[in-house]
Amino acid sequence: MDKFVINGGKPLEGEIEISGAKNEALPLTVASILTDDVSIISNISDLADLRSMISLLEVLGVKSEIKGNVLRIDPSGCDGYEAPYDLVRKMRASVYVLGALLGRLGRAKVSFPGGCVIGTRPIDLHLMGLEKLGARIKIEHGYIIADADKLVGTEIFLSGIHGPSVGATVNVMLAAVKAEGVTVIKEASCEPQITELADFLNSMGAKIEGAGTPVLIIHGVKELHGAKHEVIPDRIEAATYMIAGVITRGNLLIKNCIVKHLEAVIEKLREIGAEITYEDDGVRVKAKDPLKPVNIRTAPFPGFPTDVQPQIMSLLATVPGISVITEGVYPDRFIHVSELNRMGADIKVDNAVAVVKGVEKLSGAPVMASELRGGAGLVLAGLSAINQTVVSRVYHIDRGYESMEKKLANVGADIKRVSE
Ligand code: EPZ
Repeated sequence: MDKFVINGGKPLEGEIEISGAKNEALPLTVASILTDDVSIISNISDLADLRSMISLLEVLGVKSEIKGNVLRIDPSGCDGYEAPYDLVRKMRASVYVLGALLGRLGRAKVSFPGGCVIGTRPIDLHLMGLEKLGARIKIEHGYIIADADKLVGTEIFLSGIHGPSVGATVNVMLAAVKAEGVTVIKEASCEPQITELADFLNSMGAKIEGAGTPVLIIHGVKELHGAKHEVIPDRIEAATYMIAGVITRGNLLIKNCIVKHLEAVIEKLREIGAEITYEDDGVRVKAKDPLKPVNIRTAPFPGFPTDVQPQIMSLLATVPGISVITEGVYPDRFIHVSELNRMGADIKVDNAVAVVKGVEKLSGAPVMASELRGGAGLVLAGLSAINQTVVSRVYHIDRGYESMEKKLANVGADIKRVSE
């Protein structure tokens, strides 16, 4: 198991190039099995989660090849319908094969994804949406077993107690594109990856309107064909490095990012006191003390992303004064707090609310990543802390950040990957 050894306290200066979005590449890869033709997905990142998804599709009979950052998918041999526990448990996005296999083969047997450290993460909305389209679903021995003689379009409300679901929207879209008639998804997720998925499916021959709004209208088609698509830059990676610039009181140019996907984060960083300017080839982030505490509530897009909550918490831990962070999407996503407190942070959690009392300086310590974004938050804390921080279990970080330590070292961080 690898760890990161970080000697903190150095302001980061230079340019960081953002890679392709993980949470878009995953559903696109699965969507490509809705035809027998080859599809080409470019600007993919080298990420453990994408490799896990490709391994899962291989078990179903899909052939894939990666050259550089281009993924070629040949689904013509995809006749398997069982997604086994060993592969699904590695990554919840594996559950997307449920909708895609129903769309392709009319049946699927997919291991039930369990809970995880960011919360219980149910899939009731996925199953409800697929049942409304006509799938028969039963849960047996830890597997979701689904089949349908035919899928028929209908009206589906997809919002749960914490708002719209990205995953349920993806699963229903994948099943509905080839269903008979029209499907209307109300309270659909508006996240950028849904818009990109709709664009990709439309370029495969689907007829989807309204992507990026809460109402998606899907006119079912009989056949889809192969397509090409370029993955957009990863907004969560961009936000993470913007915060790296602020937490080290540095000066970074974040290249290759889409500003309109980052507005909620930019707004909060400006409120904290960072100077953020737009340049031809990116967003420049500069910060120096004193910075101000803020209150944040995470929410589905276009709100402040839950996937940036741990990173901004690390920053606020270094901003004197009281900041309050309310987790509006995953009320239990605070596993990183105890590790931050080991570094001298002063954070108290009560249900979905974290009260962060900023300190002058964090102090380096051995800490453990327990999930992807929490791990990224600990790396940021280590970059700002006095002395050495060792972040263990960086395999969590490798799931969603391509070469994090190299990108940070290129802008002046003292960070090394060490194999234990
Ligand atoms: C996606 O997860 C992302 N994953 C997550 O990113 C992200 O944190 C999350 O959306 C929220 O933005 C991918 O895109 C692969 P949801 P997903 O269904 O789709 C509840 C990362 O770090 N809910 O939108 O699983 C759920 O419990 C990852 O990159 C139900 O109640 O999230 C949560 O409270 C981690 N029933 C809320 O909805 C359901 O059937 C939103 O979850 C499904 C979800």
